[in-house]
Amino acid sequence: MGTKRHFRVWRGDDTGGSLEDFQVEVNEGEVVLDVIHRLQATQTPDLAVRWNCKAGKCGSCSMEINGKPRLGCMTRMSTFEETETVTVTPLRTFPVIRDLVTNVNFNYQKARELPAFAPPAGVAPGEYRMQQVDVERSQEFRKCIECFLCQNVCHVIRDHEENKHAFSGPRFFIRAAELDMHPLDARDDRKELAQAEQGLGYCNITKCCTEVCPEHIKITDNAIIPMKERVVDRRYDPVTWLGRKIFRR
Ligand code: SF4
Ligand code: F3S
Ligand code: FES
Repeated sequence: MGTKRHFRVWRGDDTGGSLEDFQVEVNEGEVVLDVIHRLQATQTPDLAVRWNCKAGKCGSCSMEINGKPRLGCMTRMSTFEETETVTVTPLRTFPVIRDLVTNVNFNYQKARELPAFAPPAGVAPGEYRMQQVDVERSQEFRKCIECFLCQNVCHVIRDHEENKHAFSGPRFFIRAAELDMHPLDARDDRKELAQAEQGLGYCNITKCCTEVCPEHIKITDNAIIPMKERVVDRRYDPVTWLGRKIFRR
């Protein structure tokens, strides 16, 4: 038999909503998503929540728990005091559809805007070869589960709807960095694109994105800062500029 705990859950839709209070049973070893499911089973059958794997791998159950962007399925109830109220709200940066479900379409639009991997001319698929060291460098970025918690927490768009058109966000900076580091990507303007099209310059390295990433990707240190440094190098370093003119890179 579990203990009764106090939960506050945001309920509403795109026209507005409010926090509702619940007393709900919690058992040992449970995560926040388990408790949401119990609420659905016992008190609020129409409570909307998105989830899929319950294993921290599908990136669907992103929500804000006591104001922090988290995965519901990876947030253990044991991290809270027994007397603490657990408040669950939808991601703030994206429009609410209903209850805890938001419309994350912004992210898919930004993904589409990023030019895809450009294979080298004259090499057929299946004949691409690259060094193991290059494969390993991009592995960190490939761990992304597209939970969009980093996108949600970034202050550039969290409180500034007006920046959304010009800013792709940290998830897409790591994608750009991955392609930039890819030895077979034929484009040599990934850094310039990040600056001109993705809004890399809006990022002032607050590192909040890195802090919330459930895959522990070092978004800021390993993707954003190297991209920024190289943009600066290329623009202002006369030797790099001359080298580029001569060697086209
Ligand atoms: Fe989620 Fe991390 Fe990918 Fe951002 S980089 S979408 S926080 S897994
Ligand atoms: Fe935003 Fe991450 Fe930069 S939170 S400001 S993209 S370091
Ligand atoms: Fe898949 Fe939480 S349900 S990450």
